[in-house]
Amino acid sequence: MRRHVTASAAVLTAIGLTACSAGAVAAPQGQGASQPARTYTLGMSQCNLGEPWRMQMNKDIETAAKAHPELKVIFKDASNDSLRQRAHVEEFVAQKVDLLIISPKEAAPLTEPVAKAYEAGIYVIVLDRAVLGDKFTCFIGADNRKIGKAAGEWIAGTLGGKGRVVELKGLMTSIPGQDRNSGFRDGIKGSDIEVIFEADMKWLEPDARKEMESALSRFDTIDLVYAHNDPGAHGAYLAAKAAGREKDIKFVGIDALPHEGVMYVKQGILAATFQYPTGGVEAIDMAVKLLNGEKVPRQVTLGSRLFTRDNVDRGGEPIE
Ligand code: FRU
Repeated sequence: MRRHVTASAAVLTAIGLTACSAGAVAAPQGQGASQPARTYTLGMSQCNLGEPWRMQMNKDIETAAKAHPELKVIFKDASNDSLRQRAHVEEFVAQKVDLLIISPKEAAPLTEPVAKAYEAGIYVIVLDRAVLGDKFTCFIGADNRKIGKAAGEWIAGTLGGKGRVVELKGLMTSIPGQDRNSGFRDGIKGSDIEVIFEADMKWLEPDARKEMESALSRFDTIDLVYAHNDPGAHGAYLAAKAAGREKDIKFVGIDALPHEGVMYVKQGILAATFQYPTGGVEAIDMAVKLLNGEKVPRQVTLGSRLFTRDNVDRGGEPIE
């Protein structure tokens, strides 16, 4: 059934409600909650499970889905390979899942398979890293430009408007990497912050460590490392520590998982981290709405919080 492809969302809701929501997600009268009227299969295509943040995203999805006995989620892990992820999406389409959730590795290579799933009438929720164009049902993620800008402003403020900074970028073929970079450059505009070294560490701690080793060998003075995620900031810290220079440098990251970035701030390893919520719970929320024939926004923007040594014990503070 082509549920949503050509109809506008409003028309869809009008016709879709009777077609999809009658008895869809709620159990019919007289049956227990464990006996849903029908079940729905959700395909979840995860680009990689190498980072704790992605394990957390899957866990958030799994936990949220458990509250809905009518949902069955099938997880696939593309092991950081866009071609494999593309194949996973195609498999989910062939299998005729009711809804696809995807957190794509890269924008360009995943745009076409995602569009094809959407055109086949499957609801598509894109999580965290965007694809190009608009052939999906709903995008959920935090505002990476805003986080990058807040990081830039915080860094400029912390360094008194002047300093030598290393930027370790997330994968630049992914939109969060691009936005955390451009937002940051905006945030330091007008200050005397100088980016003396920049490299793409592809979101990976070992790559960040290697890049930082090069930066350390080239520059005697580095005031701060801005890494696009906490694994990157931690990799840079380890390189500095091995060179005996970790006390001279501040490290700032993004993600703020309780047992990763936030813990590093508490331990004095990071000066700051910005929260990047996984969106897993919201994805299940939207999935249930869609499967009930309800209208959902095309874009759901999640908030972020800043954690520093001063505010970490109070739970951080929201960014403006
Ligand atoms: C994990 C990760 C996170 C980062 C997000 C960006 O793969 O690198 O650390 O915040 O992806 O999409």
